[in-house]
This record gives sequence, structure tokens and C-alpha cells, in this order.
Amino acid sequence: MARLNPTNIERAREVIARYPQPRSAMIPLLHLAQEQDGHITDDAKAHIAELVGVMPAEVHGVSTFYEMFKHEDVGRYLVGVCTNLSCMLLGADELLAHAEDKLGVKVGGTTPDGSFTLEQMQCLAACGGAPCIQVNYRYFENVTPERFDGVIAALSAGTDPEGQAVPPHGTLSRVSLPHPSTDADRERPQEIHS
Ligand code: FES
Repeated sequence: MARLNPTNIERAREVIARYPQPRSAMIPLLHLAQEQDGHITDDAKAHIAELVGVMPAEVHGVSTFYEMFKHEDVGRYLVGVCTNLSCMLLGADELLAHAEDKLGVKVGGTTPDGSFTLEQMQCLAACGGAPCIQVNYRYFENVTPERFDGVIAALSAGTDPEGQAVPPHGTLSRVSLPHPSTDADRERPQEIHS
């Protein structure tokens, strides 16, 4: 499978230059690989190891530690339903059961058309908006079964659910600025995450 493409090699070198130790760039580079392919391939791990000067096993160890890195293809939309305490008290278990019925898959499953993968999540740090879900790591809060159906319907129709654009799985930042070359630039934020 894919190594980083030429554009992402440039982006990777730019990211590595931001750290005193190249290996410290491993996690952002894994995000870059996931953005490129939708999941982390063996070739991407080997390529990242080359770029930061570590063994591929070290990249594998880091990438398998974090739940957000996927090692197999997932659906176009990764739908995560939080069932931790605050969400559970406000109906998350019922919402998850509804999600399974609506999508026709159990937790961990992907719809036959490859559109949706359903996940059960731990606290997403949005307890004030419980119960909450994420779609490709974009938040939807105070979700009822009806609102869940609306989000799925909008995504299925290729429109923005509730006016919120949901990028392809793996896309963390929508805006990426060049590495700062002056002290003045260093005082400005370098990336805007959404
Ligand atoms: S318990 Fe669901 S966001 Fe915290």
C-alpha cells in the first residue's frame, strides 16, 4: 500500500522541522498518512520510520496505541457514539441501539455500501452536550434519534448535516500554514484545527 505521496513528503519534512527531535513528529505524520489513505498502511509506517529515523516497529507501536489511528479501511464516514457516563445518563445506550438499527450494522461494522462505520466511543470531552456523537471527528451534540437520522440522511445525500461540513475520514486540519521563518511568524498560530 501507499507510502506518503510527494506532496505529503514535503508536508512531512515541514512538520519534522518544527521539532527538536525528528521522532517527535511521529504522531502528526501518522495523521498525515491517515489523511492520505483513510487508514495507516504498513508502507506508510515504514516510510514514516525512514523520515524520522526510527524502526518501523516503533511507528507501529505508537500507531496501535491510539484508537484514532485505523489500520484497516473504514467507511467514508466514521460515526462514533459516546456511551460514557454523562452521555449514558442522557440516553446514549438507546441512541447507540438506534444507530445500529438505523445503519443495519453492529458496533465495529461497516454498511455494505461502505458509507458508514459505527463505533462506540468513550468520553469525547463534550459532556455538556450529551449525548454526543462524532462523524469523522466532527461533533454533534444533544443528539436525539431523530437528529441522528437527520445527520445520516444529510451525509447519504451528500449534503452538510446541520450546516457542518464533514471532511473525508482522516482530515484533521482544514487549513495548514507554512513553517514559520521569522520570530514574528512564530507568534501566529500555525494550524487551525476543526
Ligand atoms: S460522557 Fe459523552 S462526552 Fe463525556
